Amino acid sequence: MAAPATTTAANTDAAALAAIAAHCARCHPALPGGGWQTMTARPFTRSELKTQMRRMEEEFSAFPSPDETAAIVDFLLRRPAGGVTAAR
Ligand code: HEC
Repeated sequence: MAAPATTTAANTDAAALAAIAAHCARCHPALPGGGWQTMTARPFTRSELKTQMRRMEEEFSAFPSPDETAAIVDFLLRRPAGGVTAAR
């Protein structure tokens, strides 16, 4: 899917969903009611999420690119429906 020139790949839902599918869903399966197992069980602030992303990399070998990491973090913060409260 081609993104409009003004939209960077890092800030679209599609980019985040693709990154989660590629790097996270093998351990955090999507839930029928929305969100992902464990990953969206509780709210995080932006800085907490960044810490969690680093933990996923160090402890669980999840290696999204910097763009993918930014897309995932922004996506989780703007989607309370996924179980994550946007506490910025
Ligand atoms: C190899 C398995 C694995 C992969 C891949 C993985 N995780 Fe995790 N993740 C876990 C496990 C197990 C836990 C719970 C235990 C813990 O927090 O140490 C966890 C916990 C979390 C938490 C904290 C949940 C909480 O309430 O404390 C978040 C957020 C999270 N993962 C996000 C992600 C994201 C985003 C990705 C993809 C970039 C990802 N994880 C990839 C295994 C994984």
